[in-house]
Amino acid sequence: MSDEASAASPSPVRKAVVPVAGMGTRFLPATKAMPKEMLPVVDKPAIQYVVEEAVHAGLTDVLMVTGRNKRPLEDHFDRVDGLESALRAKGDDKKLELVQQSSELADIHFVRQGDPLGLGHAVLKGELHVGAEPFAVLLGDDLIDERSPILPDMIEAQQRTGGSVIALMEVPEDQISLYGCAAVEATDMDGVVRVTDLVEKPAREDAPSNLAIIGRYVLAPEIFPALHATAPGRGNEIQLTDALKTVAADPDSRGVYGVVFSGSRFDTGDKLAYIQAVIELAARREDLGEDLRGWLREFVADLDD
Ligand code: G1P
Repeated sequence: MSDEASAASPSPVRKAVVPVAGMGTRFLPATKAMPKEMLPVVDKPAIQYVVEEAVHAGLTDVLMVTGRNKRPLEDHFDRVDGLESALRAKGDDKKLELVQQSSELADIHFVRQGDPLGLGHAVLKGELHVGAEPFAVLLGDDLIDERSPILPDMIEAQQRTGGSVIALMEVPEDQISLYGCAAVEATDMDGVVRVTDLVEKPAREDAPSNLAIIGRYVLAPEIFPALHATAPGRGNEIQLTDALKTVAADPDSRGVYGVVFSGSRFDTGDKLAYIQAVIELAARREDLGEDLRGWLREFVADLDD
């Protein structure tokens, strides 16, 4: 058994924390009166994909860390009696099923963040709910293609090491300043690296690698004391990256590991990537795909002319 494997944690990962308090200013005016997480990707709000991803990985206990103007999220994952009985009366079973899906998906809880003091602060709001177990954090802006999930590999790495695990992705050098960035070394576990250092949104010349943190984490509960001890950092916010850096540097901790993602992911917080996500997912759909692909071919041919 490797060093890493002998430190295995017996506590299974059951809970997911999903920070959703962000204001979504990049999508104004669409997000003036509506949470950005409710923007539809084809015909489903972006947040539902994220909750579905957690559920597919076995995490059916989901805590959303919300803020002002986020009531529609609570409504979306709740029953809507009037709508359900109207659809039932019409015999529209298909739509009824669609409406019921989101309320039956998971055991969803909500806590308010209060002051928006950063991602680390949002995760701290989950401390009471999570307790002394490892847990996942899923950021709503990252939409991971369901054909290439990363959470199961991250959960496995957490269970083997007992440490905290982050999702990493290689990005072009000129984009690293948009992300947290990790310095890593190899381990004897397939597809898992050890994280030796972290920097939140470094300037290109200060980045220790081209490995960016994408919005998936499986954290050991030792992250909570580290977060409590973390002073505001970049943007005067309490950064999860800074707390993870402390854990990575602490020889008495269970350590920080990375799983490098090679699948496809959309940043639905970015306008262009959001539009691409809508087109790509619609082009794959049985009910829309054929027509959309036909139209896209003509549209692109016209553009080329
Ligand atoms: C957050 C994290 C950052 C990470 C990013 C992934 O930043 O702080 O380390 O790379 O999510 O999406 P945000 O994009 O919320 O500013």
